[in-house]
Amino acid sequence: MKQESSPRIFAAEQRSRWRSDPPGIWSLEGADLDSVPALSILTTLWDQPRWLEAYHLYDQRGSELFEEICRLPEYYLTRTENSILESHAADIIAAAPVQCVVELGAGTSKKTVHLLTEQTRRRGRSIFAPIDVSVSALLASQEAVRRDFPQIEFHGLHARYEEGFNAIEKSLPTLFVFLGSTIGNFNHTDFPRFFRALAAAMGPNDFLLLGADRVKPVKLLEDAYNDSRGITAEFILNVFRNINHRLHSNFDLDQMRYHSWYNPEWQQIEMFAVATESQQIRFPEMGASFHWRRDEKILVEISRKFEPLRLQEQLRFFELAPVKHFTDPDQWFSVLLLKKRG
Ligand code: AVJ
Repeated sequence: MKQESSPRIFAAEQRSRWRSDPPGIWSLEGADLDSVPALSILTTLWDQPRWLEAYHLYDQRGSELFEEICRLPEYYLTRTENSILESHAADIIAAAPVQCVVELGAGTSKKTVHLLTEQTRRRGRSIFAPIDVSVSALLASQEAVRRDFPQIEFHGLHARYEEGFNAIEKSLPTLFVFLGSTIGNFNHTDFPRFFRALAAAMGPNDFLLLGADRVKPVKLLEDAYNDSRGITAEFILNVFRNINHRLHSNFDLDQMRYHSWYNPEWQQIEMFAVATESQQIRFPEMGASFHWRRDEKILVEISRKFEPLRLQEQLRFFELAPVKHFTDPDQWFSVLLLKKRG
């Protein structure tokens, strides 16, 4: 296959590191995104309390279940954020004079369509570059963009977020888009690490559009993560099927249940698996095992909720200045536009 010439989204010193295959999908040379993170799983399972990093949730089945969650009546986040973007895409694009949109995660491109529509209407030819660890998500996004936006140059970056945003040319005015309240998954270590790295990768003419779910009455929050059809429970417990598959461990899904609650002090939904019977969990390849006591909880995911004004204030310390704040009539969700202080 003929190698595409390196597009101008890449910083000069990055160009030689990226290869396109298939066309329009770029990968870092020598990167292995599928390597089994056995040690990373064991280190958190051996912690006290036991916990797991949220990205293990998104195998094929997990991604399908999450899509299903997004359509649940109780899960207001996706449709609320989409309605905000639909209503305010023109204001957002007018306030952010950019030539390029870089999205962290390709799965959300459905919501990003509103931005691309306004961007092409206002500025014509532009670049769209989603960053994702899933090639199939990038290909789906590429197909949709090619079909609906012939004026947009598409470059999918098959990489982890940080590898992706570090590769973007700083002098190219870019709108970074991070939707869905994915920042809710970040714990108190991940959060500053992520924003420090992102802000350092941003150029003086760059903007960030950030979706954040808000603190709200507990009943609404708890219902969103404990739906009546049990899809969220299936999504959370599926992580153990995934781990069994990858590490040949023996978690018994019939001897655990899902439990979630809103922790008001930490302003976060906490999603657990609870052993309904005690189990001896073995990792044969690692020569490791532990006793999962009956009623003992494993923290599988957190979903932090935000106060938008406090979040804006905090992001100032990462050199991200608030430009505009968009919300819905119920004030359930916020979309923040921020600018890198140049
Ligand atoms: C994808 C992290 C935004 O926290 O709302 C939904 C994940 N987990 N239901 C969220 C999730 C259970 C979701 N994020």
